[in-house]
Formats: sequence, structure tokens, C-alpha cells
Amino acid sequence: MKHIRNFCIIAHIDHGKSTLADRLLDFTGTVTERQKQDQLLDSMDLERERGITIKSHAIQMEYVHQGETYVLNLIDTPGHVDFSYEVSRSIAACEGALLVVDAAQSIQAQTISNLYLALENDLQIIPVLNKVDLPSANPEEVTDDIVDLLGCDPEEVIPASAKTGIGIQEILEAIIDRVPAPKGNVDEPLQALIFDSVYNPFRGVETYFRVINGEIKKGQKIKFLATGKTYFADEVGTLKLTQFPKQSIKSGDVGYLITGIKDAREVKVGDTITDAANPTQNMIEGFENVKPMVFAGIYPVDTEDYEELRGAMEKLQLNDASLVFAPESSAALGFGFRCGFLGMLHLEIIQERLEREFDMTVITTVPNVSYQAYTKKNPEEIIVVNNPSDLPDPSKLDRVEEPFIKASIITKADYVGPVMSLCIEKRGVITNQTYLTPERVELHFDMPLAEIVFDFYDRLKTVSKGYASFDYSPVGLRASKLVKVDILINANSVDALSALVHADNAYDIGKKMVEKLRELIPRQQFDIPIQAAIGAKIISRETVKALRKDVTAKCYGGDISRKRKLLEKQKKGKKRMRQVGNVEIPQQAFMAVLKLN
Ligand code: GTP
Repeated sequence: MKHIRNFCIIAHIDHGKSTLADRLLDFTGTVTERQKQDQLLDSMDLERERGITIKSHAIQMEYVHQGETYVLNLIDTPGHVDFSYEVSRSIAACEGALLVVDAAQSIQAQTISNLYLALENDLQIIPVLNKVDLPSANPEEVTDDIVDLLGCDPEEVIPASAKTGIGIQEILEAIIDRVPAPKGNVDEPLQALIFDSVYNPFRGVETYFRVINGEIKKGQKIKFLATGKTYFADEVGTLKLTQFPKQSIKSGDVGYLITGIKDAREVKVGDTITDAANPTQNMIEGFENVKPMVFAGIYPVDTEDYEELRGAMEKLQLNDASLVFAPESSAALGFGFRCGFLGMLHLEIIQERLEREFDMTVITTVPNVSYQAYTKKNPEEIIVVNNPSDLPDPSKLDRVEEPFIKASIITKADYVGPVMSLCIEKRGVITNQTYLTPERVELHFDMPLAEIVFDFYDRLKTVSKGYASFDYSPVGLRASKLVKVDILINANSVDALSALVHADNAYDIGKKMVEKLRELIPRQQFDIPIQAAIGAKIISRETVKALRKDVTAKCYGGDISRKRKLLEKQKKGKKRMRQVGNVEIPQQAFMAVLKLN
């Protein structure tokens, strides 16, 4: 065990985490660049295209230090706030962390939030100043920033370039010297932490774990404590370029487990694996059932595809346990599903997977967070509102609570004004302001989650000209004055366009919604009135004027390629249209309310 080191890499997005991981694998001869490329061809397309780590994995390297061979387990952490619980469990599986800071960008919001997670778990921090090869690098200044943040010596900061290979050996040496070897007792009952799982269509769920005490053996009968279920460990092993099956994985080490589980929901990140015959009395701390944060309706474009959509959702859920769904119906859209997601990125991933892997064309309705409502009649009973139409009638409503978050934003002093204005517009209340350096400020706000899940990040980037980083964590529910704004198109209320908004903003939002919809709904043979209403009261109105001419008429029949392009474009647009009453509404319109500036 004294020759094992378990570590992760934490960094703000784009500071070079994946590039550094590749370098370490290269340097230790674990995986060459070429092999990695080939190997990755098989893994999720989406992940590669988006260039972000959606799912965390673990990989084992060997490194010879002073004549002795060490086993280094690199546990990867997802880089997006939607997956923050998985980050926390991966960190809990390690003893040390490389804190990677871009030498041009310095410390950013995720650097700090990840650092706190690592410190909470008592990880040894190795600061790495990455990208020192960049002409725009500021190594002295950024080293000072890191020293201030960590309270460490400047010599502890390792200058590196994951691109050119500077500092890679020093980093490996530091992992061995500074990260403590795992503690634990191989003679105690098995206690292993699940920090990740991956669905494999042929072999079932692959579970990644870190053994704290005891050992996990091939063929052993094991038990998952949170779910209470037992399985046989059909295969255990370690991960290098490919899986290396082994007879056992002992305390301190990291590995994978295959039990033939076919449903991702049975394997819960944060759960404890133990021996079924001789179970541990102690569940590893920190287990949580992850809860969806964002809800939206998903409907087939063609109503006849409902059953097919159900089948696709069920299959997706088998390999993505954080997706939840329940049937719902909408007067406007017919039968579909109310789905819960970890965040907006997760929603987009599911939508894309439905289209790519299952060839479904779907309409996604206005997403919302999960509210809790209470009626006057029964003020103690919680009514969970995952869909605006579930909000009780205003006359019966006692109060509504909405989820809040604590936001941390780091920006340049020059942009404090615009960032504050934006946060205040989003109902934020400032709770703290700290100058990290004379130019860089950290701001803390309490804000409603609903205000940040949609376009907040884009707006923040705009008002700060890109010089702001952002992170958040939930702080629970708080009372709020919310009303339901309904949209009527051609006098028909379209339930899928209803939104819950703060009463003070309702008029403004209603007005912007109808303006946006007027732009997005294509003109048809008749005038289409678009109205926003709160209850029976109309608060805003616009009209989509009737179409007078044939759309292709303006091409004068001359430029045939242009005409074809136009028709082509219309056809594409058609694909995601939904007929509501006698009006065709494009998919974009359902999401439009999220992007009202
Ligand atoms: P996510 O996985 O999206 O969180 O990003 P990341 O932190 O893993 O960053 P990634 O490794 O994808 O690197 C981001 C960009 O920085 C890429 O374009 C890399 O090529 C570049 N990069 C990484 N390390 C270095 C370095 O040492 N020097 C230079 N010049 N560029 C680097």
C-alpha cells in the first residue's frame, strides 16, 4: 500500500486538465497519444465533440522512483457544474490533488470551488502552474496568486506546460513525495467507495471504486449498502489502456467491478460496497441521492411516436441514472414526458442522444426548476411543482418556495459594476466581496436557481467581456412571490409555453415573451394574435401578420440555387414544428423564453 498514490486533477475549465492527464499517461508509458485517440474513438461522441469531460474515469500508471515502482491512480473529475456531486465523490476517493492553474488566466471560480472540495476531504494539494510556454503567461504574478490562495511556499508551485512537457517529471515526483500513501486495513471487512459508473451495452454497468478497507475478490458475493442489493463480483480489475482483470483489489487501490447489472440506477455514486457475508458496519460518509435540478417536458413531434419515445427514454435511463421522467400530457402537445435533469447541459445531452441514438425528433418545452407550493387549506402539505401547470390556483395558494444558490463570481475590478447590475437584475443579493489581488475580485451572491440555469452564464460573459468565471452550490428553498404567466396563441392557451416567474418581473417578461414569439412564429395565411396573461388578465399582446406573398416570390424565379436554398431552409425549419390549434409553432419558440434580454 505504501507504493500506491491516488490523486485527481482539479482546474478551472480550459486550464489544461485533460492535456496534462494525457501527458502523464504518455510520460509513464501507460497510453500513447495515438492509442488514446483510437481508444477514444469508441467512447461517447458527444463527449469528444463538446470537449468536456462528462463522465469521470480512472486510470492506473506505473512510475519508477528511486528504484521502486509506484502505482499512481489518476481519478478524473467531470468539469461541469451539472455533475458536481460526481466531482465530490471522485475527490473523496483520493489523497492528493494537482491544482492546475493557467499561467495566463490565473485563479478562477472553479479553481476555488474545486480547491475547497479537495480541502474538505483533506487532500494534499500540489499546485501546478500550467501553460508557462504561452507568450501571454504571467508566471511570477500567478505564482503569487497561488501562494496567497494556498498559503504555501513559492517553491511548492510547479511550473509546467502540458503542451511542451515542461515540469511533467517534477509533477510525478511530487505526487510520490507529497501525496500520502493510502491508509486502511486489508484485514477489515470490505468497504469500498463507488465514485463512478459507466454503462456498457454488452457487459452491463461497470462500477469504479476505491477500496478503503479489506479487499474485493473475483467471485465474491458483495452488497451495496445504500440500495441493499447483493451481487456476485463477476470480474474485478484495474484500468489502463484497457481493462486488466485481476483476482482481487486490495485496500488503498482503485479498480472496476462488473456484476452484470443492466440498470444504471442500481449503481449509485457515493454508495459503499461491502462483503455480503461479513459486511462493514460503516457506510462511507457523504452518500447522497442526486436530485434533478431542471425539469422540462419532452414530446414527440409526431404524436404517434409516443410509445417509441417511451422506449427510448427507458433505454437512456438504463445508462444514465440521473435522468428521471414521468408521463404527462399537455393540452397543446398531447402525450409526452416530464423529465428531470441535473442541469441545462444534461438536458441538451439527452435531447441530442434521443435524436442521434434513437432517431427521435422531439419538442422540449420551457425548462423550469422545481418549486414547492403550499395551499391555504393545508399549509403544511408540500406540493412539488415540476411543471408550471401544477401550480395551485392563485386564489388557493398560500405560498411558494423556490431553490436558491450561493454564486461565486471572480472578475476584474473594472467589471464589478456590470456584474453586480446583472446579478441584481437576476434577483441576486450580494453577500460578500473580496479583493483577491488589486485587480481581481471575488463576489458572492445569493440568487434563485431559476435565474441562473438558463442564460445567466452567457450574459455574464458578455457584461464582463469574458473576464468572469462563475460557480455555484445549492443552499435550499426560500419563499418567493411567483406567478404563472400563460401564453395564448390565436386565443388558445398553450400550456407548454407557461412559465413561473417572480411577480415583480411578470409584466416585463410577459411583454418580452410575446415579442420574441412574434419573431419566431412564421407568418401564415391569417393574423395570429399572441398574448401573455396572468390568470384571466391579458398583460401583453402582439400579432404575427398574415402572409401575403409566396415566400419564394422574392427570388423572381431567376436565381434557382437561391430559391432551392430557401426551400431547403424551410424544410429544415419544418422538421421541428408543432401544430397547436391551427398555428404551427417551431421548437425554438418553446425555448425562446429562456433567452429574453
Ligand atoms: P475541460 O476538460 O474542458 O475542463 O478542459 P481542460 O481543463 O481539460 O483543458 P484542456 O486540457 O482541454 O486544455 C484547454 C486548452 O488549453 C486546449 O486547447 C489545450 O491544447 C491548451 N493547453 C493545455 N495545456 C497547455 C499548455 O501547457 N500550453 C499551452 N500553450 N496550451 C495548453
